[in-house]
Order: sequence, then structure tokens, then C-alpha cells
Amino acid sequence: MNLKILTLNEYSLIDFVNFVNKVFQDYTVPVNWNVVNFEMDVRENSISLEDSFIFLRDTKPVGFIVNSIRHERARIDAMGVVKEERGTGTASFILEHSTNYLKWKGIQTISLEVITKDSRAYRFYEKHGFRERRKLHLLVNKNVKSKDIYFRSIKVEPRYIYTLSLNLQLSGRKPNWQREPVTLLLANGRYNHVRLITDKTEGYLVWGKNEDNTTYIVDLGTKDKEKWDEIAKVAIAFLRNETNCKIISATSVPEDDPMYTALVENGFESLLIQSEMHKKLQ
Ligand SMILES: CC(C)(COP(=O)(O)OP(=O)(O)OC[C@H]1O[C@@H](n2cnc3c(N)ncnc32)[C@H](O)[C@@H]1OP(=O)(O)O)[C@@H](O)C(=O)NCCC(=O)NCCS
Repeated sequence: MNLKILTLNEYSLIDFVNFVNKVFQDYTVPVNWNVVNFEMDVRENSISLEDSFIFLRDTKPVGFIVNSIRHERARIDAMGVVKEERGTGTASFILEHSTNYLKWKGIQTISLEVITKDSRAYRFYEKHGFRERRKLHLLVNKNVKSKDIYFRSIKVEPRYIYTLSLNLQLSGRKPNWQREPVTLLLANGRYNHVRLITDKTEGYLVWGKNEDNTTYIVDLGTKDKEKWDEIAKVAIAFLRNETNCKIISATSVPEDDPMYTALVENGFESLLIQSEMHKKLQ
């Protein structure tokens, strides 16, 4: 395949972001990266520009793959080819190039998330040896009501939440990449962090607000296994008091995570399902 391969740190970031938006123009969910939110994603999700690639035919970009790396694990943050290159083997070439490179670097596993209903992308990854491990849900509560619950909230530093979420992970929680303790730490400054205290339990909430006043939960946690429902109730009440929001969402929540059950039991519905897929390299 006669393609020129550049790493992303050898390419103009603004041209790259515009190119990604072009590739995803006809995608099921809107993708609208700009340099600022892309750079935040780079930091938060451990995207490695030197281990990510853009592919050019002559001087024209035709495809890309963005890789995140944490120790011996990699994650494909995004990949794609322009419309004219779909079904031609270009995407397979890109994925194989990247996989061989990651294997050579000593990476043991690659993960990714794909919209389950996007059968083209799903089959593409399956064809290349990726297997579904679990489903992730975009959960939305469209009718947030104010509730009279007694609780206290204290603003805290990301490092405090990091320690709590690390303890949860050590005691068996299996967060997805975007909710791993280190992700919460690296997102420093992007979200709000609070400790929530009731007379029955204590936990934490990481949250953010969109420009349209919709509010989102990044992560929730409590060390009491039986108190996830309680902490979800308090988190919703806190967000309602704080932002007066009517809608709260939480993206990519793994179905086997206690946060999933707690949110569903508190009025959240699943609006989009992704499959978390994995491939072992060594
Ligand atoms: C996803 C993507 C990288 C796959 O590359 P591709 O060149 O289109 O992949 P292939 O042509 O090998 O197609 C993959 C499989 O889906 C099948 N397929 C093709 N068109 C399809 C369609 N419209 N619906 C369902 N399946 C389809 C193909 O037959 C193939 O299976 P097969 O090899 O067993 O026959 C490419 O389509 C793309 O860039 N899409 C836009 C961005 C994107 O969705 N990225 C992935 C999410 S991050």
C-alpha cells in the first residue's frame, strides 16, 4: 500500500482535528473535536501523539489512528478513513500497521469502544481479532426532580478522589479507561470534585456542565458496597441544587459497574450502547 505514514507529533494539530471531523462527518453520533478539547483528551486519556499515526496518499490525508498507552496496555481512542477509502483495505492496513508497532513496543493488550449498532466498525474490529468484553451505556436522566435529602458536600482536590477511586479499584471495581483513577487525576481542572457525606455513608462525585446547561456525571464512588444507591441519590440531589439542571447524563458506564445499577435505579435510561472490545497481543 503506497501510503506515507507520519506520527501525530509530526503533523499540524489543527489540520489533524479538521481531518478527524471530516472522517466522522456521517457518523452515528456527532464528533466535534477542536484543538482545545483534543488536547484535554490527550492529557486525560493518555493519548500518545508519538504512537498515533496519520496516513497520506501523496500529500492528502486518507486515514488516522489515535492510540492511548498506559504501561503495557493500549487503547484505540479513534480511527477512521475517508469515505473513498472504505472497503478498499486501507483501514485494515492502518490497524495492522498500528498493531504491529504496538506489539513491537511490548504492548500486551489493546482495547477500544465501538457503538454496538455500528455493524461495519464492529465487524471490522472483530475481523481483526478484537472480542467484546462488556457493554457500556450512555445513561440519561431527563427528568431530574429536586428531593429533600440531608447531606453535606465538600469541594476537594482531584488527588483526594484519585486515592478513593484507587481503593475502589483495588477492592475489585473494574472501571473503563475513561473512569480509571489515573484518568480522574490527569483530568485535573476539567471537572468538579466533591466529597458527599450523609448520615449513612460517604462518597465522591466528579461532574461537569455543558454549555447548554446539561450536567454530566464523570464518576461516582462509595466504599460501602450496599450504599451505591444512596450515593447516586445524593449526587443527583447535589447536582440539582448546584446547577438547577433538568437533565443529567453519564457516558460509557459499564453494565457490570455498581454505578450503572445505581443510576438506572434512580431514573436513568440507556440511550446508546457501546461494546468494549479487547485483543491480546502477546
Ligand atoms: C470503521 C472503518 C475504519 C472500517 O473500515 P472499512 O474499510 O470500511 O472496513 P471493511 O470494508 O473491511 O468492512 C468491515 C466489515 O463490515 C462489512 N460492511 C461493509 N459495509 C457495511 C455496512 N454498510 N453495514 C454493515 N457492514 C458492512 C464488510 O463486509 C466487512 O466485513 P467482511 O470483511 O467480513 O466482508 C471505516 O468504515 C471508517 O473509517 N468509518 C468511519 C469512522 C469510524 O466509524 N471509525 C470507527 C469507530 S472509532
